[in-house]
Amino acid sequence: MRVFITGGTGLIGSAVVAELLGHGHTVHGLARSGSAAEALAAAGAEPIRGGLADLDTLREGAAHAEGVIHLAFGHDFTTPGAIAAAIEEESAAVGAMGQELAGTGRPLVTVAGTPAVPGRASTENEPQLASGPVAGRALTVQSVLALEGARGIAVRMPRTVHDNGSGGFTGILTRMARAAGVAGYPGDGSQRWPAVHALDAASLFRLALESAARGTAWHAVADEGVAVADMAEVIGRRLQVPVRSLPEEAFGPLGVAFATDQPSSSAYTRETLGWTPTHPGLLEDLENIQP
Ligand SMILES: NC(=O)c1ccc[n+]([C@@H]2O[C@H](COP(=O)([O-])OP(=O)(O)OC[C@H]3O[C@@H](n4cnc5c(N)ncnc54)[C@H](OP(=O)(O)O)[C@@H]3O)[C@@H](O)[C@H]2O)c1
Repeated sequence: MRVFITGGTGLIGSAVVAELLGHGHTVHGLARSGSAAEALAAAGAEPIRGGLADLDTLREGAAHAEGVIHLAFGHDFTTPGAIAAAIEEESAAVGAMGQELAGTGRPLVTVAGTPAVPGRASTENEPQLASGPVAGRALTVQSVLALEGARGIAVRMPRTVHDNGSGGFTGILTRMARAAGVAGYPGDGSQRWPAVHALDAASLFRLALESAARGTAWHAVADEGVAVADMAEVIGRRLQVPVRSLPEEAFGPLGVAFATDQPSSSAYTRETLGWTPTHPGLLEDLENIQP
């Protein structure tokens, strides 16, 4: 399949590009800079120059593709305004690609997030995350699932998609620990976050692109729920800094999400799409953090 991908240079996207190429697909990737274009070309994909705000480029990329995978997102979580701008940019970008695919029957696979259900593991049947700082992204995902005449699919990511010790919420905890000299966690740290290795997430994107039905959502969850205090323990040990609870406000706009228990299951995904994660779990991968 000729696939157009956004975010193909990111932690997850670079794994998806390799996975697609390794399974006989051709890949055209959105590249907003010369270095992104070089990285895509070096990986074996064809770069298409432009950013998420270049709606004509996105329409053209989608029009020439047999399938689209959307992953790009501006990750400035420092202020609520920056988060809102990124959500708005993504919504317009996905809307443009969706319009182009409507009526073609082709797949548009968008990244999404696992629902947060404190106290138990969320499932694929549950609605998209609709509260918290990035709740607006759920509307974009819903628009993909509701696309007329196209195969709109959501692959939901857990809070941490990791590779070589970095990535996702846990990667933010590590960066904060490095900057503050303390490996912090909100509350008592017993709240659980799900996780997956980027290489395992990539294989689920390919399976969903190839075979998932219109309007379906899938969970790329390998670790159902890792206690945040256990993550902080490894981060603190690897960085040689103390580990302790910090007030929720210390984590900025993401504090509420960081304090929430949100385990998630992928039993239905594994059974239905035949997805089997094989790469290291989160706590093992965090041992790769360098002081
Ligand atoms: N990692 C996680 O734990 C996790 C968890 C849940 C959901 N997700 C979601 O999964 C997706 C991919 O995450 P990731 O961890 O792979 O992110 P990442 O490593 O930060 O990569 C982001 C990608 O988006 C591209 N991008 C950002 N803004 C762009 C713009 N305005 N125009 C064009 N491209 C743009 C980046 O391009 P450049 O190379 O040019 O910077 C890069 O390819 C995101 O939507 C993210 O929110 C990730």
